[in-house]
Amino acid sequence: MIRCYPEQLVITSGATQALSLVAKLLLTKGDEVCIEDPVTHEIQTIFQQPGASLYPVPVDEFGIMTDMLPSNKNPKFIFVTPSHQFPLGGTLPIQRRIQLIHYAREAGAYIVEDDYDSEFRYAGPPVSSLQGLEPERVIYIGTFSKILSPALRIGYLILPQDLIHRCRELKWFHDLHSPTLEQLTLAMFIKEGHLEQHIRKMKRVYRKRRETLIHCLNDSFPKKLKIFGDSTGLHLVAAFDNVQFSDSMLHKLEESHLRVYPVEKHAINKGRHRNKIILGYSNLSPDEIKEGIRRLTICV
Ligand SMILES: Cc1ncc(COP(=O)(O)O)c(C=O)c1O
Repeated sequence: MIRCYPEQLVITSGATQALSLVAKLLLTKGDEVCIEDPVTHEIQTIFQQPGASLYPVPVDEFGIMTDMLPSNKNPKFIFVTPSHQFPLGGTLPIQRRIQLIHYAREAGAYIVEDDYDSEFRYAGPPVSSLQGLEPERVIYIGTFSKILSPALRIGYLILPQDLIHRCRELKWFHDLHSPTLEQLTLAMFIKEGHLEQHIRKMKRVYRKRRETLIHCLNDSFPKKLKIFGDSTGLHLVAAFDNVQFSDSMLHKLEESHLRVYPVEKHAINKGRHRNKIILGYSNLSPDEIKEGIRRLTICV
């Protein structure tokens, strides 16, 4: 659940522009940001560009480890992907959400909630957004990239009252506004019920692909692997016992025409995730998934 008035909304060209606007709005040289580790390089770079330094907070299968938030720092904000952590895939439990909000209150910091991947949830009860729990401290970022298509380049920010004016000004000087025709078309698509219909349909399709992938992994690697991050989104993470996804292993997989994405690539502090890979399933048919896992079995 989100709590906001229409004036709190700024339409952006995707979550990426929303993150850039937040960085320009809040960060100057020497500032600190607490950030999930692992996290994408793009997001690290966006926050480093204004000269801020990153304090990496480790992530486990449930999301950011709130016990590890630093007591001796004054971060401008804490960056999180609580619906479906990227890349590890955890959904942040309510206890950690509350702990995170307490921490932000005490530190006088904002929370940046990147909700890029929340619409396709297959298991577990729905979880309250951080924004719904603490609207005046949370900057919420949404995008249509996963729900519809990354080609659309439409996302949005929901801002606390004190940031609205400056953010609108920044967006204006950035590119005036996001394309109106696309926004109007999307608005009609939503109003006429097509988006809801699309989500229902795609959820069935993705659920089948996800189940095929989980089934093939468990069948092919019995007792050798742990799956997590599979309750939401379009990817999951497979953690293997005694396997390291080194450059030579990745090369071997590529030679079998299999490209997998190692979690370790996204780690700021290296070494904790060498045995884990990200497996996206949204654009593969069940047969392609079966074939992919068959090839993985040969190499791993
Ligand atoms: C965690 C996270 N946030 C944001 C984005 C960017 O999304 P967009 O296509 O809306 O710019 C991505 C890209 O997949 C992502 O992984």
